[in-house]
Amino acid sequence: MHRSGFVRKGIALGSAFAASMLLTVGHLWADGQYALSNQWEKARERLQLLEDYSNPYTFQQLEQASIQKGWTCLDAGAGLGGVTRWLSDKVGPDGQVDALDMETVFLEEIDKPNVHILKKNLVTDPLPEAKYDFIFARDVLMHIPEREEVVHSLAGALKPGGILMVEDIAILPYGVPYQRLTDDAVLNTTMQNLISTLEEYGHLSFHSGYKNIFYFEDAGLVDANAHSFSPFARGQSSEAKMRHLSLLQLTPVFLKHGYNAETVEQVRQHFLNENARFWGFVRVITTGRKPL
Ligand SMILES: C[S@@+](CC[C@H](N)C(=O)[O-])C[C@H]1O[C@@H](n2cnc3c(N)ncnc32)[C@H](O)[C@@H]1O
Repeated sequence: MHRSGFVRKGIALGSAFAASMLLTVGHLWADGQYALSNQWEKARERLQLLEDYSNPYTFQQLEQASIQKGWTCLDAGAGLGGVTRWLSDKVGPDGQVDALDMETVFLEEIDKPNVHILKKNLVTDPLPEAKYDFIFARDVLMHIPEREEVVHSLAGALKPGGILMVEDIAILPYGVPYQRLTDDAVLNTTMQNLISTLEEYGHLSFHSGYKNIFYFEDAGLVDANAHSFSPFARGQSSEAKMRHLSLLQLTPVFLKHGYNAETVEQVRQHFLNENARFWGFVRVITTGRKPL
């Protein structure tokens, strides 16, 4: 792992500030755990920000999938349930939407008769075979190291002719000049290092969006297709505030792997600077169909 001299210089894990950051995030983190649990006290706010900036684009893509009244759908890793609600309206009273998540605390609030809540882990719990006309998963596979196996399992849960649509993120390296988060080279390098640490230890992939199409084809899905979209973002935007909160929740990962709390905080604060401007995460939509 590469770290800037700035980071090394700042290591002060015993500092009162580091201790207060651990208290703020509320728990110690162990390698291999899902680092962005929905049980975190600010999880609702974080997931709402994710929905605020993602839903308009996602709903455009879902419109193109020609989802029909009466279909049976799965929202895999449904989070706060915004997509579940959209699918519920689309399939109507004769359809069904299964909202699956390993932490269903927010989904329990959905009061729609055609929505069924499934508390399941996509890695360890089997899915029903050939049940669904349409399966959707947004920003879920990027959190699951076994994502290739999960694509196979989702493909198995499709009816013949059923459609799988996965939305996942990707990033370009922040070293590319136009992709910099900031003109401050040290801060930029630190951000890149934090991402590398999350990829190495935090179970997150910032490239899964680009990989899914290959998993789709290997799982036997046909007409597999993918395209991407990257919004330009500014400090204080929903994406910036979501990244600001995510970095707070992920702070135990960084502290455990030798970062200084003040350094993480400095990167976090950048996203609240209204003069900040940067390319947002690339959002990759992959679709494929189970053969008839
Ligand atoms: C970043 S959130 C995305 C939520 C929602 N799809 C959205 O885009 O608004 C990731 C969600 O996936 C869930 N998740 C992560 N790993 C999972 C697993 N192995 N099985 C089931 N759900 C999982 C998390 O609990 C969380 O709700």
